[in-house]
Amino acid sequence: MWFAKMDKQEMIKRIKELKEERNAVIVAHNYQVDEVQEIADVVGDSFALSRYCANSDKNVIVFCGVHFMAESAKILSPEKTVLLPEIDAGCPMADMVTAEELREKKKQHPQAAVVCYINSSAEVKAESDICCTSSNAVKVIRSLKEKDIIFVPDQNLGSYVASQVPEKNIILWHGYCITHHRIKPEEVKKIKELHPDALLLIHPECAPEVVAYADFVGSTKQIIDYAASSSHKKFIIGTEMGVMYKLKKDNPDKEFYLMSPGLICPNMKKTSLKSVYTALSEMKYRIEIDEDIRVRARKALDRMLEVE
Ligand code: 13P
Ligand code: SF4
Repeated sequence: MWFAKMDKQEMIKRIKELKEERNAVIVAHNYQVDEVQEIADVVGDSFALSRYCANSDKNVIVFCGVHFMAESAKILSPEKTVLLPEIDAGCPMADMVTAEELREKKKQHPQAAVVCYINSSAEVKAESDICCTSSNAVKVIRSLKEKDIIFVPDQNLGSYVASQVPEKNIILWHGYCITHHRIKPEEVKKIKELHPDALLLIHPECAPEVVAYADFVGSTKQIIDYAASSSHKKFIIGTEMGVMYKLKKDNPDKEFYLMSPGLICPNMKKTSLKSVYTALSEMKYRIEIDEDIRVRARKALDRMLEVE
């Protein structure tokens, strides 16, 4: 391929030109590789990016993230072309619940409200009353009048919310993030011993026995904001390594240690400058959603956006 010969600066220049030609915006999740974060117009967590896409006036959204994120952008902006640069960039946790399985669960608990984590398919969102992200899950659950709540698919975020909102009966699903869930408390204990004066900031996708050690629990953006505004100088970061880029860049006077070398999401790492360039030049891969599903899924996302 001829672009194999393009150097990095030439590739960035072409991406910028194509972006203008297509009237496109490039959005990237906090877990994307450094050079993709660098060329993005906006970098953020799932909530910030879904809100940004809903309000963007560009015709094309290039979503550097995983499939459910690009799908959420398309649900909110059906008139726009939403491109996912790497078609195989999925989220294994989102695949741990299907719409059919959720319909069965709803039959067992007809009185319960259904809350789906944004890490879920459009079909699952269409079966849900309201969506949430890791930044607003507690607020979303508190906003509901129902006491019984089916929470899909993340058992760990669900457990965290249950600990914060004890007045609700949270019916957990068995899903989990393959990256966060594998961190063991022993590993956390060790790194805390190595850096006893560091604050531990953890994503709620980690298991409850790991979250128990946290000084602060929040979404990727909340972790980044917390570290930036804190007067503390040392932090252990309990989420995917991609957040280290912004943390180090924005806080050169502070020290950051990743909680575990295993905190890498292979799907988030698939997107490269090359795939962003190809996405814009070939206008692929386009996200399409069945209109009936999209309209029902949109209600769950809109209801979440109203809670904020
Ligand atoms: P955030 O909403 O915190 O960005 O997290 C999304 C995600 O997939 C975490 O693994
Ligand atoms: Fe999915 Fe986990 Fe990757 Fe987030 S970090 S996209 S939850 S696999």
